[in-house]
Amino acid sequence: MNEMEILDGKKVASALDEKMTDRVANLKKQNITPGLAVILVGDNKASSIYVRNKKRRAEKLGINFQLIHFDASVTENELLEKIDQLNHDDSIDGFIVQLPLPDHIDEDKVIDAIDSKKDVDGFAPNNVGSLWIGEPHTLPATASGILMMLDFYNVDLDGKNVVIIGRSNIVGKPVAAMMLAKNATVTITHSHTKNLSEIAKRADVLVVAIGQAKFVNKDFVKDGAVVVDVGMDHDENGKLCGDVDFDNVKDTVSMISPVPGGVGPMTITALVDQVITLAEGRANG
Ligand code: GUN
Repeated sequence: MNEMEILDGKKVASALDEKMTDRVANLKKQNITPGLAVILVGDNKASSIYVRNKKRRAEKLGINFQLIHFDASVTENELLEKIDQLNHDDSIDGFIVQLPLPDHIDEDKVIDAIDSKKDVDGFAPNNVGSLWIGEPHTLPATASGILMMLDFYNVDLDGKNVVIIGRSNIVGKPVAAMMLAKNATVTITHSHTKNLSEIAKRADVLVVAIGQAKFVNKDFVKDGAVVVDVGMDHDENGKLCGDVDFDNVKDTVSMISPVPGGVGPMTITALVDQVITLAEGRANG
């Protein structure tokens, strides 16, 4: 049996917080406070929790955090006007529009309206393109957080077989691009993939982001694989769990990120890191 190691996102996040606190202090000496704004529409429960956590972490690090909370009935035009205002607000280094949005608002149109220089989600089409040609400006936070965590645990991706389950723009695709840039051999699988467990079982590193509680069991996991669980699901008792059946795979894997306490804290770390980097760019003119 393997010695299994937990990829402890909380621990990595607090280790990296120290460095970021120093960077913010340095900026303040130059009279610059990094600014992050988040637009939240409606009262989606998960989104409200994510935003609250972002606010907490940003403020703890000394970042100026602005929450713009619209009622679910906000019009697309009102939202676009606010985005235009933030695009031109010099105190805001970056901002995000928390997804999902209500059905009457066109998500693509909203993302397109964000100035790509301030797009700390890395969702704007030219930031996506820049990532795929290997010259990223901003990176999607969840994907970036996963790579920061693997780096912290010295997981070398060069030449490794990476299998990603899930092809979303938020996680699956950016993780693929970033791991490709680290010279991994990347396979993206999804709901139409045939023989999914067989393909997943080839992975040295398996990243699971499909949004189905405990979907992955040991039939999907090679002995000694590193498993990254991006799920935020609820089990049959309503308890928070991931896309991976942790207890079922824990004796098979060499490393695994738990839910909660794995990828979640890293997502926010990656986001604030990026805001600080943009503020450093502002400081350097
Ligand atoms: N909803 C779930 N994850 C994300 C994210 O990374 N960014 C935004 N804007 N919305 C999300």
